[in-house]
Amino acid sequence: MPLLGVNIDHVATVRQARRTIEPDPVHAAVLAEMGGADGITVHLREDRRHIQDRDVRLLRQMIRVKLNLEMAVSQEIVDFALDVLPDMATLVPEKREEVTTEGGLDVAGQQGRVQECVHQLQQSGIACSLFIDPNVRQVAASADIGVEAVELHTGAYADATTSAAANAEFDRIVEASQFAVSRGLILNMGHGLTYRNVRKIAAIDGVNELNIGHSIISHAVMVGLERAVREMKALLT
Ligand code: PXP
Repeated sequence: MPLLGVNIDHVATVRQARRTIEPDPVHAAVLAEMGGADGITVHLREDRRHIQDRDVRLLRQMIRVKLNLEMAVSQEIVDFALDVLPDMATLVPEKREEVTTEGGLDVAGQQGRVQECVHQLQQSGIACSLFIDPNVRQVAASADIGVEAVELHTGAYADATTSAAANAEFDRIVEASQFAVSRGLILNMGHGLTYRNVRKIAAIDGVNELNIGHSIISHAVMVGLERAVREMKALLT
């Protein structure tokens, strides 16, 4: 059974919609931990659209499970990571205008730059993962850099609109997985995974951890809304 890393970015998205203090992603992380999360993942984006520096610093103090910091290949964020010391750093591509991380990191096309960043992080004891498309060339480039893990991007599989397309994407994930395991890499996966599509991915041989955010936070709103309304209503009497 793979481990579950819960991405709590979108708790912060709701907070930042009002620039207020609730809902607090640190509180959410503690609840996720109580629910059995094996790790907490946050993406400190360069534009700070959801998670803030303060969140990561407090998470580092509060949670007992693994803290995985998603980050761009950027010296500003590397310096922050070296100060906060998450358990793992996952390097992702980042474009300011995107709604979410759109594709995997092109490790093969910028090996030197990625390696320099990984080297700094590893020297401080931070394990490194690279978020890449499920593609043997990108896995090979990642292994050559000497990272501990790769996270295969499952977005194309999740977004496929026909079963033929989903099956083709699934086959790419399996091929890249087998190659990653053969190169001794820890095999993680994530992006776009939902209650509907996760089982097939969870059953892939060698998968260590799945990182899931949007679907869990969406479901949490739905399973919690009725109680929240009832509690507000009780105050009106
Ligand atoms: N893994 C990585 C590297 C991501 O960038 C994200 C999105 O922030 C996720 C996993 C989680 O994706 P989702 O929110 O679609 O579950």
